[in-house]
Amino acid sequence: MTALTAAAAARDGNDPIFRLHGEATRRARTGESILNATLGALVHDDGRLAVMPSSAEAFSRVPPEQAAGYAPISGSPDFLDAVIADVFEGTDLAGQAVAVATPGCTGALHAAFQNFLEPGQAALTSSHYWGSYNAIAQYSGRAIATFNMFNDRLRFDMPAFEAGLAGSIERQGRALVLFSFPCHNPTGYSLDADEWQAVSTIVRDAGADAPIAFLLDNAYAAFGSGTNQWVAYMPRMIETSTVLVGWTISKSFAQYGARVGALIAAHRDQSEREQLASSLGYSCRATWSNCNHAGQIAATELLTDPELKARADEERAGLIALLRERVDTFNEAAGEAGLAYPRYDGGFFVSVFTPDSEITAARMRETGVYVLPMPGAVRVALCATPVASIPRLVTALAEGIAAARDASEVARDAGKAAS
Ligand SMILES: Cc1ncc(COP(=O)(O)O)c(C=O)c1O
Repeated sequence: MTALTAAAAARDGNDPIFRLHGEATRRARTGESILNATLGALVHDDGRLAVMPSSAEAFSRVPPEQAAGYAPISGSPDFLDAVIADVFEGTDLAGQAVAVATPGCTGALHAAFQNFLEPGQAALTSSHYWGSYNAIAQYSGRAIATFNMFNDRLRFDMPAFEAGLAGSIERQGRALVLFSFPCHNPTGYSLDADEWQAVSTIVRDAGADAPIAFLLDNAYAAFGSGTNQWVAYMPRMIETSTVLVGWTISKSFAQYGARVGALIAAHRDQSEREQLASSLGYSCRATWSNCNHAGQIAATELLTDPELKARADEERAGLIALLRERVDTFNEAAGEAGLAYPRYDGGFFVSVFTPDSEITAARMRETGVYVLPMPGAVRVALCATPVASIPRLVTALAEGIAAARDASEVARDAGKAAS
């Protein structure tokens, strides 16, 4: 007899991404030629995890007696200032923001769901989204609601976003909007300047009628082109709304295991900022109590020590170039193969559309190529795909999508014959 509650017993701790990754790894160990494009970590073409020596050095420099002590509950003030400056430097927003430390961006998401939605309410995100949003929301007693992400031209469906936001407000009297641009996971899409302008206007106008928190999950920000252009549109949003940013060391400093992150909250009123800092600090106390102290000290050094920062920027530029070559090679090969996928100009992932993602992914696995099936598309982790394997990847995608197309035609014909 289990002592777990029914709800707990129904939960599966084995994330589908890690399940597929495990299967691919097991097959590779038996000597099979496997292309494992499942996991969101940047690896070199020879399969080694890409690390940044500057990050490792920053961690090694942390004095043991500081690392061993508790960090302040809301986070080390120097770390929080450095993170705010990293995101908002040179804009008025830097003076209009508070922050708390969180275990990665995952912690920032958890704190946002807890503080900006009532139990039972839903955050609004695009119809393609990182699957863990669901788990994080549900575990907090919240949910995810979606709007259609792409129009017929595979561009961001702005009217659908506007209607989705209006719907959230009508149903809940409030909204938490969750975007992860640039380099959206899973599609790779980045909003352009016109799209940011439209999004910020929609949020500002809707915020005049109801409380809105706009959360930008900034996990992959460093890997986009024109990466921080969204910041220019935030002052329009904070005319009426709260702007949140989930910041993390995981991808931008290649320190996935350090679990260092922050939730930044920008608001035009000083008194509201004080309330935000207090409420978010309470969340820290009530969940992780305080975050990795060594990690906050190391991140602060990486963001503020001029020599270390310059080295980190240079090393990151090398990682961005590694990814860039893959993105360009993929775009060329996928374009020639006629694959359908949205604008992709940087980031760890791209999604390729298919009539049946399970059939496509299963067919690809038969040839040793692992991607993640999702509703309507398969997600391809180019961050884990050596450039020389991209032709193999694209061939497998084309065959897998053809298999899905054949299966849906057979099903359609069978349906016609039966009716
Ligand atoms: C879109 C997105 N947001 C947030 C995260 C969480 O990152 P972390 O908790 O490691 O900072 C990930 C990790 O894969 C992600 O893909």
